[in-house]
Amino acid sequence: MEKEALDAIADELYGKLAGVSASVSPCLYDRAACERMAPLVARIRELKRERNATILAHTYTGSEIVAGVADFTGDSYMLSKRASETESDVIVFAAVRFMAETAKLLNPTKRVLLPATDGRCSLADSITAEQVAELRKAHPDHVFVCYINTTAAVKAQCDVCVTSGNVFKVVERIPSDKIFFLPDRLMGQNLRNELAKRGVKKEILTSDGACHVHESYDPELLDFLRMRNPGLKVLSHPECSEEIAERSDVVGSTEQMLRYIAGSCDDRFMLLTECGLAARVQCEYPGKTFVGSCQMCRYMKSNSLEGILRVLENPAPGDEVTVPADVAERALACIRKMFELAEG
Ligand code: 13P
Ligand code: SF4
Repeated sequence: MEKEALDAIADELYGKLAGVSASVSPCLYDRAACERMAPLVARIRELKRERNATILAHTYTGSEIVAGVADFTGDSYMLSKRASETESDVIVFAAVRFMAETAKLLNPTKRVLLPATDGRCSLADSITAEQVAELRKAHPDHVFVCYINTTAAVKAQCDVCVTSGNVFKVVERIPSDKIFFLPDRLMGQNLRNELAKRGVKKEILTSDGACHVHESYDPELLDFLRMRNPGLKVLSHPECSEEIAERSDVVGSTEQMLRYIAGSCDDRFMLLTECGLAARVQCEYPGKTFVGSCQMCRYMKSNSLEGILRVLENPAPGDEVTVPADVAERALACIRKMFELAEG
């Protein structure tokens, strides 16, 4: 590509990314970094057209992916909706494996490629389908609700799935007062507390998983930071502990936090979730200030421009996401039930 065209891409990237601070990002987006990224971005955009591909990126991946090559960025619910609507032949899903699996379930005839070098998730990996089958035997009267952060094989064993953005609404609407929620014990406790606040009586049992990012926030540190920053608005993810949730102004998915910031007159926020959200808001709302403390998800951050280029150019068999047909049918029913309850 001509030097002029590459300079234009470097300018575009620098214009979008210069405001991202080093404390919320794995790298600094100075002009030199944007120049180094420009040829990769140019090549990915070219291949995207040639292969008729759509690139979906979770907000937690690197800002250069979100700002440079993604067609859509969002939370797990929004991305699964986008995945169900795409007409492309190929979906490149910059995120973790369970999200790419969800896209494959919704698009069985399309190629779904995962560029992450480590697509695990500490929640999704905390429970197996065999363990769920055992739990079902032990609790035959319970409706089994799984968080979307589970493998397709686990979803295939469950009745309905939820995302962080609709967990309270969907569980409230399930016509049973006996729920087994898996795999996140912290989200399960937030679910109990929220339903109690709404006056909804349900027994909610949980398994013992947690997210390595969200379980690490310290409520006492939050008290201290609030004291030091009067007027601070605290937004947290429902994967955080109940002590964090009860100290927060807003508890919601990454997309719900983003919407709150967009509509708020306040200018100082603390986001208790993965750093990618703070980086995205710094790009999109340069007038707002973000007080530490965010944490990085090592799995989401294993996505890169190089990985996206690799899967578009020459995908290895392990980059392509597949789900066995018998698992796919049952897992898809679990996801469709969520759409029905969330949108009905
Ligand atoms: P969201 O659905 O809010 O994007 O959350 C996904 C996730 O993995 C949170 O850790
Ligand atoms: Fe999984 Fe936590 Fe990473 Fe989200 S932030 S993908 S729940 S490990």
